[in-house]
Amino acid sequence: MQTATGIIAPKNFFLINKEYLAVEGRVIGFSLYTVRPSDNAPIQLAPRGSNTSDLQHLVQNPRLSHFFIDKAETQEFQGFMTSSMTTLIEDDNIPLPQKSQVLYGRAKDIMRDVLENPRSGDSIKRATGMADNIIDLAMKNFDAIPTMLKLGSRDYYTFSHCVNVTIFAVGFSMMIDNSGESELRELATGCILHDVGKSEIDLQILNKPGRLNPYEFEQIKTHSEKGYHLMQGYLSKTALEVILHHHEQADGKGYPHGLKEHEIPDYVKIATIADVYDALTTVRPYSDARPPFTALALMKKQMTGHFAQEKFIDFIRFLGGQFEKPM
Ligand SMILES: [Fe+2]
Ligand SMILES: [Fe+2]
Repeated sequence: MQTATGIIAPKNFFLINKEYLAVEGRVIGFSLYTVRPSDNAPIQLAPRGSNTSDLQHLVQNPRLSHFFIDKAETQEFQGFMTSSMTTLIEDDNIPLPQKSQVLYGRAKDIMRDVLENPRSGDSIKRATGMADNIIDLAMKNFDAIPTMLKLGSRDYYTFSHCVNVTIFAVGFSMMIDNSGESELRELATGCILHDVGKSEIDLQILNKPGRLNPYEFEQIKTHSEKGYHLMQGYLSKTALEVILHHHEQADGKGYPHGLKEHEIPDYVKIATIADVYDALTTVRPYSDARPPFTALALMKKQMTGHFAQEKFIDFIRFLGGQFEKPM
């Protein structure tokens, strides 16, 4: 399998981000491999049961750029990662940029898995856990929000878009102190999974360069209801509402239900603004990435009626960093 970086993973192995091993003092329940450049054969670097403190020379060796894990040890790796995220967030010895990078990379990996297999209860659970991790890090140090936003990939992939929207929405919601902690967590869960219904849309339509015809557009529009049905039974009412209603508009011209401004909950309004802003500032199959100011100007001039005005103004101020950081 060819990875996003162009490196070929050996058969039945998958690539991991080596930063994932940065938290010291943890025992890995899986073996770690690299590949022999001549024939791409896996070579074991460290056996299962190794301590990450003993692996730092490998992590820091610039000649070892890619680490792989045997797919047979996926469960052990996932378990290690879930517990490592909590340790990583708490560890004051790890600098914020490194923490943010690991968390952002891991969030993208998790969302890639969810979109490939949206009916897997395990990956939905990991996505929910990741939404919590993002909030935990932001509560510990709010600078994590701008740091992670800077890492945001400007290439359009649904998985990175879902992570970016979550970070925008969490930062924005925390700054305007919109909700209590439990609602914030549910908003984040809804955001990270808001486009999960796109996993059920024909890829040719989803990635079509150029304008969609009316039929194709109707197909795309089904993603919010599809996502809602996929996640029913897994998520809270608040998170499900974010998924179902993130394309509603304040003027009632949105979908799927044409809700009016007063019928749309505040947390959904936040998700909607974050969603549109991230989409506009990202390279998509049919448009270039717009700079922040251009995106905001377009949202203001050409999307009148789309957003709750008061929230939109707050969002502009959030991006400008004019809010005091929450205590
Ligand atoms: Fe969407
Ligand atoms: Fe979206």
